[in-house]
Amino acid sequence: MCAQECKECKKKPAQWRDDFPIEWEKDQYVTRREMVKFLTLGSAFLVLANGVLAAVGRFTHPGKTSRRSVALASAVPLNSSVLFRYPTDEDPCILVHTREGGFVAYSQVCTHLSCAVIHRPEQDTLYCPCHQGFFNIQTGDPTAGPPTRRLPRVALQQDGDVIFAAGMEV
Ligand code: FES
Repeated sequence: MCAQECKECKKKPAQWRDDFPIEWEKDQYVTRREMVKFLTLGSAFLVLANGVLAAVGRFTHPGKTSRRSVALASAVPLNSSVLFRYPTDEDPCILVHTREGGFVAYSQVCTHLSCAVIHRPEQDTLYCPCHQGFFNIQTGDPTAGPPTRRLPRVALQQDGDVIFAAGMEV
């Protein structure tokens, strides 16, 4: 651009250039110090926002640690399962009476793409029919198929014949 009268094009510079003499290169120049300051403050803000969201989530889900009866132990035969909802009525879970005689419970939501996991007693496993995902019945760890994360486990308590859900172990 012509800053003064140009010898080649013989044009006078626009009047506004005299009125607003801004040097564009310097105007868009960001120093390293400014960049580091921006990244540091941005990171600090994200960490703070994460903390606030975690705290809000913890206090707005009071049902997460509440105790809720799930089933009568005597009503669930060996190597079978029952479905229940925990910690809220929106959260499907599965209680399994294992071949060995213990009880385990997990979220029924597959960790791959959230299909419902079912019990396969003949294979002693938890199975997701959507993409052939398999989970270890004792640990909830994925054993085959696309899931890579284990199923969230429901902490259980037994009081006489009644089995209670008493928290989520994520
Ligand atoms: S949703 Fe369960 S394996 Fe894909």
